[in-house]
Amino acid sequence: MPEKSESKTAEKSGAPAAPIAATKSNPSDSGKKEVDRLRRRFIWTFLWGYLGVNFLMFLRYFFPRALFEPPTTFNAGYVADYSLGVDQRYLQSNRCWVVREPGRLFVIFAQCTHLGCTPDWEQAQNIFHCPCHGSEYDSEGINFAGPAPRPMDRCHVTLDPSNQILVDSSQRYIMDPAAGTNQFNDPGAFISA
Ligand code: FES
Repeated sequence: MPEKSESKTAEKSGAPAAPIAATKSNPSDSGKKEVDRLRRRFIWTFLWGYLGVNFLMFLRYFFPRALFEPPTTFNAGYVADYSLGVDQRYLQSNRCWVVREPGRLFVIFAQCTHLGCTPDWEQAQNIFHCPCHGSEYDSEGINFAGPAPRPMDRCHVTLDPSNQILVDSSQRYIMDPAAGTNQFNDPGAFISA
């Protein structure tokens, strides 16, 4: 029989007889392996991505989204540093205008009393104009046009022992004609200058 003679020949030559099934590659098997490999890769990518995003969210807790408000108290220098009129040097840093008039100095908090926008100082017209809904205030912050219900608030102001101006914008003085309130002449609402 020829098969017996072939195996005998292989045994004689010392080479192992290769199994017939192992030498043949099945195309459908290799395609299935490729699909499995891609599926595994997709699952691992998704898993690592998910864990990565959660880890970043965890790290985010160590960097809270803090709101940095400007300092409410500040030194505004000497009265002699100001000429008559509205001074804007502390508008950006402290949201205040320093106003000097003959005999007094006071500080207006730059917030519209309608809905809280920051008005613009219109030097040429000598008024404050709110860009949001058009309220207008005179150079003392007294409203005269638009929806603002009352004048802008004034900040607490004092002189320190060295005669420098100290402003505290967290302490406010208000005038509200509708409520019959006027704190603009209270001690602390202005300094004599
Ligand atoms: S917020 Fe100023 S007019 Fe409305």
